[in-house]
Amino acid sequence: MTNAGSSMITIERHIFLEQAAFPDASGTLTQLLYDIALAGKLIASRTTRAGLADILGATGDENVQGEEVQKLDLYAHRTIFQLTDHTGRLAVMASEEEKDIIAIPSKYPMGKYVLVFDPLDGSSNIDFNVSVGTIFAIYERKTESGPGTLRDVLQKGSDIVAAGYLVYGSSTMLVYAAGNGVNGFTLDPSVGEFLLSHPHIRLPERPKYYSVNQGYEKYWTEGIKRYTRWLQGEEGATQSLSLRYIGSMVADVHRTLLGGGVFYYPADSKDPKKPNGKLRLLYEANPMAFVIEEAGGYASTGRGAVRDVDPEDLHERTPLFLGSTELVRKAEEFIGQYDS
Ligand code: AHG
Ligand code: MN
Ligand code: MN
Repeated sequence: MTNAGSSMITIERHIFLEQAAFPDASGTLTQLLYDIALAGKLIASRTTRAGLADILGATGDENVQGEEVQKLDLYAHRTIFQLTDHTGRLAVMASEEEKDIIAIPSKYPMGKYVLVFDPLDGSSNIDFNVSVGTIFAIYERKTESGPGTLRDVLQKGSDIVAAGYLVYGSSTMLVYAAGNGVNGFTLDPSVGEFLLSHPHIRLPERPKYYSVNQGYEKYWTEGIKRYTRWLQGEEGATQSLSLRYIGSMVADVHRTLLGGGVFYYPADSKDPKKPNGKLRLLYEANPMAFVIEEAGGYASTGRGAVRDVDPEDLHERTPLFLGSTELVRKAEEFIGQYDS
């Protein structure tokens, strides 16, 4: 082994080294990313004890701590809020778990950034010991001063300054991009540090998997049905891909990023109240699109880049196709041809 010491890069050191390339030289953004990494450690330690919540509750252990047994997504939401509300780095926040924008308490200083997050993604998987995650995006505020407003939150994906996710899986990882490529860090639980394990992630040349909830096929349009058959090697395709679908977006996108392929959640006719599918533009689609595109991929609504969508509502949903560029372009082709 050579030079083991110098290859040990903690997230703190990495963020510090990257700082020069950040649009904000003051270091505020680096601190904000570090706040999120800390929140991730706390959430990870809770999710690994998820199955114990009832047992601990029954023995009263939680009460001794003065805490109630909370749903994990609310715990994740509160953890992120509490670690970032007082820092003077944010003007406003928005979370999938909160109907309206989240104001910074007036007793704290106002900052110039905006934090948008899905505190716990894939939470229905918790009961089955399957990976879940946290998704986040950071923007600069649009308004000049005072408390941040809805206008600061309703920004296009193309305005993202930094975005990423944590995946709480067989190990805990943090993956982020801030305009200078994508890097992945794995939490070493013995020392409580995120260490750089996946530098400069690029989508592989040869895609391996397609990822979609195939159980909804009967609700799909003709274009999506044909596109899926193309991925399977029909409809004139020259390759065929394997299917993987976890049902936790973070985990499905993480695999797509590392293994190549395409993840999609199309518009379908399953629920008339959700004509654009299930995924949320602000909390899920835009941050993941940013990461995938920073790694050389592409993210689309099926009719154009996700990053160009002008959001109108905090919780609006969007069809989403992301991953290897040529596969996502092919989805646009099928939709253009059959679903006009
Ligand atoms: P959340 O747990 O934040 O509500 O998100 C769940 C999402 C996403 O993680 C996943 O891709 C999708 O739900 C799966 O939905 P289906 O069960 O309809 O496939
Ligand atoms: Mn989610
Ligand atoms: Mn969620």
